[in-house]
Amino acid sequence: ISLQKLNSFGIAAHASAFLRIESEQQLIQISRDQQLARMPRLILGGGSNLVLSDKLDVLVLQMAMMGKHIVEENEDFVYVCAAAGEPWHEFVLWTLQQGLGGLENLSLIPGTAGAAPIQNIGAYGVEMQDYFHHLTAFDFLSGDIVTMDKQDCRFAYRDSIFKHDYRDRMVILNVVFALPKIWQPRLNYGDVAQLLIAKGITAPGPKDVSDAIIAIRRSKLPDPAEIGNAGSFFKNPIVSAELRDSLHAQYPAMVSYAQTDGGYKLAAGWLIEQSGWKGKALGNAGVYQKQALVLVNLGGATGAEVRRLAQQIQADVFDKFGVELEIEPVFV
Ligand code: EPU
Repeated sequence: ISLQKLNSFGIAAHASAFLRIESEQQLIQISRDQQLARMPRLILGGGSNLVLSDKLDVLVLQMAMMGKHIVEENEDFVYVCAAAGEPWHEFVLWTLQQGLGGLENLSLIPGTAGAAPIQNIGAYGVEMQDYFHHLTAFDFLSGDIVTMDKQDCRFAYRDSIFKHDYRDRMVILNVVFALPKIWQPRLNYGDVAQLLIAKGITAPGPKDVSDAIIAIRRSKLPDPAEIGNAGSFFKNPIVSAELRDSLHAQYPAMVSYAQTDGGYKLAAGWLIEQSGWKGKALGNAGVYQKQALVLVNLGGATGAEVRRLAQQIQADVFDKFGVELEIEPVFV
């Protein structure tokens, strides 16, 4: 089966077996099936954070369980649940329609709700873990349905246990978020506040913030429906204060953000741009003209071409700045 339409990079990958999962019963059946249970698995959500190889000898499980609802509320929070297959952005818009703020800074992020915890999606000063309450998952190893809280998931910047120990073992079924009844906008990142002021909005509500974020994202990030990509291709690197200071002395225009542990986060997009890669290509894989952190498919790119471009960028950034860039999406 072709996976070209099922991964946002638009890589023409083929998988040996494919099943669309609409209930947890199906997963239990698969785990009890001698043949299927033994196959290597690829658990697929929106396919928006993957770089696929051309031929995959795997069983693809496409998570298509749908549904979203308010679970309960107490004095401080409203708890909302999204099934794994719900498109993330539609879920965010639905929470806003319910009058619930919290997730608006994460508007327009591609992918599904079930995939959001895997890389702990984040944007404009907010990470999914800030609102995460718990999730349920099917454990292929034990055959049980388990509940995992925030600690169990080991969230970090663009990271969780699902990218490591639990990769292809735990299948996220649904995710519950705790949205606060008392809402405050988070506008300290980049140009969000400026854009609202420019629009004459002085006391923004959640929907105003969402609209602003959507406009900013549209202006610098490629729409995967038009240009294949997987969002940011590298994590923003965290370096020591010494390295940051010596780079800053050489490049006064370099942006950096102090971390609580004394380190500094650098902008990988800036490092890549300064290394001369913005808008450049290697074969059919390229660096987006408006945001150097995003690698794009210029048409017919293979996973191997994308990897080659990524490695070349890593080598050049390391030569110039002594900074190692870590790849963010998952290679399959
Ligand atoms: N920059 C450049 N050149 C570029 C790109 C960026 O100089 O080509 C500079 C910008 O001028 C700015 C700084 O880098 O000073 C940061 O840029 P931006 O605000 O665009 O954000 P980012 O650090 O490049 C991160 C996330 C994005 C997220 C935005 C907004 C990571 C790996 N990426 O990008 O997440 O949308 O911040 O919060 O943390 C994603 O993960 O797929 C993603 C798009």
